[in-house]
Amino acid sequence: MLQPPVTDPPHFDVLPGAEARGSLEHCGVVELPRIQDRRGNLTFVEAGRHVPFDIQRVYYLYDVPGGAERGGHGHFKLRQLIVAMSGSFDVVLDDGTRRARYHLNRSYTGLYVCPMIWRELDNFSSGSVCLVLASEPYDEADYLRDYETFRHAGRHPDTR
Ligand code: TYD
Repeated sequence: MLQPPVTDPPHFDVLPGAEARGSLEHCGVVELPRIQDRRGNLTFVEAGRHVPFDIQRVYYLYDVPGGAERGGHGHFKLRQLIVAMSGSFDVVLDDGTRRARYHLNRSYTGLYVCPMIWRELDNFSSGSVCLVLASEPYDEADYLRDYETFRHAGRHPDTR
């Protein structure tokens, strides 16, 4: 698939609601609080305040070998905030019409991904850790693992 160049994601002033789905317009960067200190920096995340959902699950990707690709799926209803806790990686988002590549490399910014977005992760730096805060428990039935099925579901939201 044609890969877009790295661009800057939009920054949100107002967090998107649950009804905002299926468009890159509803995906973007959330600035997390940062307490800077000579002893080291501290960032915190509160559900409903810094992420626009109740956090039901946290998972992280680590020990990712060079050249590996993760993701490659969409979700019917999952809402996510992706943070590069350590190192860096790229997130490719696709809403079936547009595709964008964002580079994440800060532990105090999160990329919010609304439902019905195709998402791929690659270009992991050595030692990087990708943290995902998720709005739902793990549910394989919520996954769209085939791109054409994802596009079809996006065009025909009533068929699920
Ligand atoms: P998957 O979502 O396919 O990973 P990727 O980020 O590459 O798309 O998940 C890989 C495996 O881990 C799969 O067997 C499902 C399992 N898994 C869970 O059991 N719970 C989870 O919260 C997640 C994210 C994955």
